[in-house]
Amino acid sequence: MRAELPDCRGCELWEDAEQVVPGEGPVRARMMLVGETPGDYEDKAGHVFVGPAGRVLDKALAEAGIERSKVYLTNAVKHFRFEREGKRRIHKTPAASHILACSPWLRRELEIVKPDLVVVMGAVAARSLLGASFRVTQHRGERVELADGRPAVPTVHPSSVVRSQEFRRDFEAFVNDFRAALRLLG
Ligand code: URA
Repeated sequence: MRAELPDCRGCELWEDAEQVVPGEGPVRARMMLVGETPGDYEDKAGHVFVGPAGRVLDKALAEAGIERSKVYLTNAVKHFRFEREGKRRIHKTPAASHILACSPWLRRELEIVKPDLVVVMGAVAARSLLGASFRVTQHRGERVELADGRPAVPTVHPSSVVRSQEFRRDFEAFVNDFRAALRLLG
């Protein structure tokens, strides 16, 4: 997959992005975390969750007692989508067409890693894995199932915690969703 991803032309996002950002982690991880799309930092570094959202995610995992190095981390869409505002590159949420175009890669990761549990972070990952009508906020921290019957726990995206006006409360709720995921993993 790593060898094939850079050649993906499934949608147009490859044209403006610096590079494709593949998933990372042990190929036999028991837990897989799925985010949205690489951001500015990830696009430059070529690694998932190395920017501000990644720092909050790292803190939440640590607080829940989950080692980042033991989970497989990936995104529903593997190229950065942005708009230019002067010199700045402003993140844009991937469209339904990007999510659909990238979904075969995510399905392949699921087939290769075969995680016992998937943590679905935010609306884009939920759209890819649980369908367009699924609402993360209504089911966060609960056990749900993907189309293939694999157990999953939806939660918010770490970027929403980064931006929160009520950081403490929202960070704690985010950590609690990971605690719930850990309990389900047994
Ligand atoms: N947000 C994501 O969803 N994924 C990343 O890799 C970074 C930020």
